[in-house]
Amino acid sequence: MSDAPFQNSKTTASESSAKKPMVSLTEVQTQQRQLIGNFSHELRTPLTLVYGYMQSIQRRNENLTNLQKEALEIAMLEMKHTIQLLQESIELARLDNHAICLRREPVALHGLISEAIAISQLDRSHLDKSHLGKPREIIVESEETNISVLADAERLEQVLLRLIDNALKYSDKAITIRLENLGDYVAISICDRGCGIELEDQRYIFNPFYRVDRSRNRDTGGVGLGLAIAKVLVDGMGGTLNVYSQIGEGSIFKIILKSSVVSD
Ligand SMILES: Nc1ncnc2c1ncn2[C@@H]1O[C@H](COP(=O)(O)OP(=O)(O)OP(=O)(O)O)[C@@H](O)[C@H]1O
Ligand SMILES: [Mg+2]
Repeated sequence: MSDAPFQNSKTTASESSAKKPMVSLTEVQTQQRQLIGNFSHELRTPLTLVYGYMQSIQRRNENLTNLQKEALEIAMLEMKHTIQLLQESIELARLDNHAICLRREPVALHGLISEAIAISQLDRSHLDKSHLGKPREIIVESEETNISVLADAERLEQVLLRLIDNALKYSDKAITIRLENLGDYVAISICDRGCGIELEDQRYIFNPFYRVDRSRNRDTGGVGLGLAIAKVLVDGMGGTLNVYSQIGEGSIFKIILKSSVVSD
């Protein structure tokens, strides 16, 4: 039987060092995110200043024509969108750098989830067009009423908001949030019956700026930072975030966190 090609290979020291990667892939990714973070930081201050000037022109708008007012409004909306994008990139870099410290304390899930649902339903862009502009239905399924996890409440709510936002944005049916007590762990699943995600794309959707719709059409999504931020936040709380999805069937984003009630 012949040896596997790599078992008997005689590589010289210089060959092996040439083949050895200089830095690991995760290091490259971290450097990339830091670069984006630094770049965003440099841009945010001048843009915030310009936005401030635009606001003061809008406040003293006596001499503006209707056309100028309209142009100013559009420019301000675009500027706000860009500042928010920069803010999110800075946040991602800081999270990656462990510059933001996440708490791990008992958080009651039912209250937090109700709050996240209420906030999501306030977002007018999610109003259900097929149901006379009512907020889309979000059902909570849980066998127990008192489940709590070890987490940072504020950050976990941000994660839920991002996942609910996606579920509403990429589907047009009711959303289900399922809670399961797994003993020492708790699973929170955000389930939609939308378009689903190809297996190939599932590998990349947690990367910053990755969108399945590569045309980057604003009508069909955001900038592609929501899942990247959600993932580092859940990682930072000691949990996991994974996707299970099938084209045409829908998607499940499952967060697993440590239960705050530890069994003996
Ligand atoms: N529930 C879902 N169903 C189908 N596709 C999804 C779902 N959630 C995410 N995706 C796909 O994964 C991509 C990345 O999601 P992510 O939340 O990071 O970015 P986004 O929603 O495009 O923008 P952002 O969240 O920054 O506003 C999306 O652009 C979309 O293509
Ligand atoms: Mg999103």
